[in-house]
Amino acid sequence: MIEKKFGIIGKPLSHSLSPTLHNFWFRQYKIKASYSLIEIELNEIETIIKEIRNGKLQGINVTVPYKQAVIPYLDLIVDDAKETFSVNTINVNEEGKVVGNNTDVYGLEQGFVGKLDNQNLEKDKILILGAGGVTPSIVYALSKKGFKKIFISNRTIEKAENIKKKFSFIEILKWDSIEEEAKSMDIIINATSLGLKGGNDFKQDFKGLKNNLIYYDIVYNPEETSMIKKLKKRGIKTFNGLEMFVYQGQKSFSLWNKHNPELDDKLKHVILKQIG
Ligand code: ATR
Repeated sequence: MIEKKFGIIGKPLSHSLSPTLHNFWFRQYKIKASYSLIEIELNEIETIIKEIRNGKLQGINVTVPYKQAVIPYLDLIVDDAKETFSVNTINVNEEGKVVGNNTDVYGLEQGFVGKLDNQNLEKDKILILGAGGVTPSIVYALSKKGFKKIFISNRTIEKAENIKKKFSFIEILKWDSIEEEAKSMDIIINATSLGLKGGNDFKQDFKGLKNNLIYYDIVYNPEETSMIKKLKKRGIKTFNGLEMFVYQGQKSFSLWNKHNPELDDKLKHVILKQIG
């Protein structure tokens, strides 16, 4: 049997742990397949989709900045990808159609939103920082759960306005007001790349936050961002993005291989070792 080939497209990709995740599962389930990083430019998307069409690649993940850009090259987009206009997983269906899926929403639901059981869906204020590739999925997962007061702020306001075109119920806050606005929030979600290993960090100190605030960081590398460390010291409940990452990968894997891989301690250990 020939080896199946999978990968992730995006740029930059050096931080991606998706190969670790999928290659671990391929070994565990004795599937003859490999998963690699495919760093490409925007004008190379078409070629990659052709490779899926002609069977050179069996499936791919899509990450920043191409989650929307791939859509015109696909035969159809389904389910949460349709709701968010954001594709992170591509497969070929039984009819040979190249399909865009979104497993980020599932990842967010399993890894974070599903755990928010004691919140007041009508009253609680949620601030999403960032309007990049994963933000539409966050907004959608929160609204599906029933949250009504969702705010979003981004350094480049146009990108937040773009997301509001699809989700008209969100409110946009100015980036230079977030430190003040944060004080009245019940949940704050970092969906920017701030805090990522080797990258920039928040300049704001975020004093005066609610004691019962929940802080969720989409970043999982490092396992604890400096924001998480700081807020934990102040007694605030925090989550990182590791579970979301693993769950979105689980759903991608099962779309491609028709097998739902297990999330066990051994896997967690392998990933944490990689983060180091
Ligand atoms: P993309 O924006 O290409 O989809 P992303 O990694 O999903 O990439 O998102 C990066 C997010 O982090 C964006 O919201 C970005 O803000 P801009 O849209 O203004 O670029 C945010 N971000 C990155 N560096 C930042 C910084 N130094 N200060 C504030 N926000 C930053």
